[in-house]
Amino acid sequence: MKFDLNEEQVDIRDMVRHFTEQEIAPHAAAWDEDYYFPREIYTKMGELGLMGMTTPEAYGGNLLSRLTGALVYEELAKGDMATAVGLSVHNMITGSLARYCDDEQRQRWVSRLATGKLLGAFSLSEAGAGSDAASLQCQAKRQTDRYILNGTKMWVTNGGEADLYLVMARTQAGRNAGGVSCFVVEKGTPGFSFGKSERKMGLHSSPTRELLFQDCSIPASNRIGDEGQGFKIAMASLDSGRINIGAIAIGVAQAAFEVARDYAGTRQQFGHPISTFQAIQFLLADMMMKIEAARLLVYEAAYKLDEGQDAIMYAAMAKCFATDAAMEITTNAVQVLGGAGYVRDYPVERYMRDVKVAQIFEGTNQIQRIVIARAISSNRG
Ligand code: CAA
Repeated sequence: MKFDLNEEQVDIRDMVRHFTEQEIAPHAAAWDEDYYFPREIYTKMGELGLMGMTTPEAYGGNLLSRLTGALVYEELAKGDMATAVGLSVHNMITGSLARYCDDEQRQRWVSRLATGKLLGAFSLSEAGAGSDAASLQCQAKRQTDRYILNGTKMWVTNGGEADLYLVMARTQAGRNAGGVSCFVVEKGTPGFSFGKSERKMGLHSSPTRELLFQDCSIPASNRIGDEGQGFKIAMASLDSGRINIGAIAIGVAQAAFEVARDYAGTRQQFGHPISTFQAIQFLLADMMMKIEAARLLVYEAAYKLDEGQDAIMYAAMAKCFATDAAMEITTNAVQVLGGAGYVRDYPVERYMRDVKVAQIFEGTNQIQRIVIARAISSNRG
């Protein structure tokens, strides 16, 4: 593996860095304060080709390698983790649709998603089915050429704002993975509405919403893949999503590190900048070491997915290590700034609030460890 960036990767990274510095970072604190979802930024990201990063050109996208994608997410997350997460979820489902749809379905949805005309969301979890995702109970009953959906989904990123939802629902009674199928449900479909908007610790500018289905009738042609294939589609989607979350965590950690480093260089106590004290130097050294280690794990997982290798364990390791590291790094960045870090004059408290959820969503870090342990015991690790 060789991770020297080629010319195209440097250009894309620099383009996204410039965009983030100009269009995102200056507004992120206000968006957080106001719980504002910046849909206009998604339109601009569409113009830059970022909404179709996982979609081949033949289907209207602008396919990038997962490794290049990791660079994009890291840069965006330096400015605003919420925006990077919204984009990641959108690209996760767009890529899965490009992969699993038939030609007619691709015509209907994929190019409009890949160009940013439509925004996508992913819906697996329910109130009673979080880590045990296969036990989900939202029903999809076949009636001739239609499915009737009934039930409630939870924790849906982009919920309410997205135009199109990739929904996992049960087509066979029980609690097993083989009874789950995957559907596209469009906003505005009768019987489909939105429930509670979550009031979260962080990531305020990324909406998280309940989905309510009450006798919601959709054409059978909205089913993606075969009946019973939904859980596998969801898990495979999450392999790429988890690598993105790792990259996003690195971006937040890098931003926190830079604030802490700069503050330590100027803040004077006991007649010296606090960066001259070993206690602070060691905090900064640990931050840098863990950012670099996390970056290499994310790049390795992305590389394996790009090469078509079994990346399940590597995606889990990248997500778990990078997000645990980012939680520690953002917490220590607040510590370096002391009282100044705990108030909203500096962004580090937002970074810390935002990044906590990365240890929870797209599979908790306890679930990632289960995935790694299973790979070890089946000799894939
Ligand atoms: N790719 C393809 N197939 C996979 C897979 C993968 N990564 N992982 C599992 N499968 C397959 C298995 O091979 C198995 O297939 P067979 O029956 O043919 O053997 C089938 O799926 C069932 O797998 P398991 O037996 O391993 O299923 P399980 O019930 O034991 O669950 C789990 C495994 C890892 C715990 C899984 O439930 C899981 O990942 N849970 C966490 C859920 C999660 O990540 N939720 C995230 C919500 S989305 C979100 O947060 C997005 C957001 O908004 C930001």
